[in-house]
Amino acid sequence: MRLPTGGLTEMSFNPLAYPILFTTPRRLSDIPSWHGHIPFAFLLMEIMRPDVFVELGTFKGDSYCAFCQAVADLKTATRCHAVDLWEGDSHTGAYDSSVLSDLKAHHDPLYSPFSQLMRTTFDEAVEHFADGSIDLLHIDGLHTYDAVRHDYETWLPKLSDRAVVLFHDTEVRERDFGVYAFWEEVAGKGPAFRFTHSNGLGVLAVGKAVPEPVLNFLAAANAETEVTRSFFQALGERVTLHEAVERLTPEVMRYRHDVPIARDRIAAQDALISEQNQSIADLGARANHLQNEVTSLQNQLTSIVQSRSWRITAPLRAINGRFRQEP
Ligand SMILES: C[S@@+](CC[C@H](N)C(=O)[O-])C[C@H]1O[C@@H](n2cnc3c(N)ncnc32)[C@H](O)[C@@H]1O
Repeated sequence: MRLPTGGLTEMSFNPLAYPILFTTPRRLSDIPSWHGHIPFAFLLMEIMRPDVFVELGTFKGDSYCAFCQAVADLKTATRCHAVDLWEGDSHTGAYDSSVLSDLKAHHDPLYSPFSQLMRTTFDEAVEHFADGSIDLLHIDGLHTYDAVRHDYETWLPKLSDRAVVLFHDTEVRERDFGVYAFWEEVAGKGPAFRFTHSNGLGVLAVGKAVPEPVLNFLAAANAETEVTRSFFQALGERVTLHEAVERLTPEVMRYRHDVPIARDRIAAQDALISEQNQSIADLGARANHLQNEVTSLQNQLTSIVQSRSWRITAPLRAINGRFRQEP
């Protein structure tokens, strides 16, 4: 990653030489955990050009389709194999068959000439590969220590002299995740580098004849660990943001359409409320006026009842009342 004055050294990696790093992924599902590593997947395909790529654990296909996209765009001669039961495990949770049909709908038209989705267990799938045949293996199944160790050891004989193995989730230390512990055991077995973003990705050069551009990249990355991590994290965030924009744009468009309509409705309601407030105020004023009239009439009545002439004429009103009562 270092750009010293005077040009690139043997230990530097020049990202500008790999425009594929900046390519937009064609498949980004709502499972974001691998999105941040997609630029590196693109790069690795370009600098490695494996003959055979196998992924253990594909789920919705975010990582797998990124590798396939690079194969298609770069026109490498890579054969790709995704292995998964597509039922889920204790970390992803169980899911239904729509996950695989959705993946197939994206994958088959684009990648079926060189790629195969193998619906089986990892242990059953291994029988379909010759020893020493796999150049690039991505282990992303169940993430317990025992499961990762088992997957690595089961597939180790299948790896070629050129082989590189990727381990996802090297940073996760919650629940019973144990990739980080297994990574600590294997990371010393060959040139290696560990990205720390997007749950972590361990890159291990296992074969004795790993392609030189890959070894150069690992050497440059280790010479500039923090810069390399930051650079790939920033590229990964670009992918994550792209996915968020794609996902949220329809909602924003809907708001843009709905907000003026809602504003007009609110304005109409406000006008109605003002009218009704005015009517309430008018009725209040009228009620006050009537109340005043009632009070004034009551006062008049009181003063009549208390007047001297009223009291003098009381006997007459009493006689008058009695006559009226008789039939
Ligand atoms: C973490 S997900 C894979 C994520 C994927 N690589 C991505 O890009 O998002 C793990 C997958 O491995 C599958 N899996 C786990 N253990 C398996 C096994 N022994 N055999 C087959 N599939 C398995 C699960 O069904 C699940 O779909």
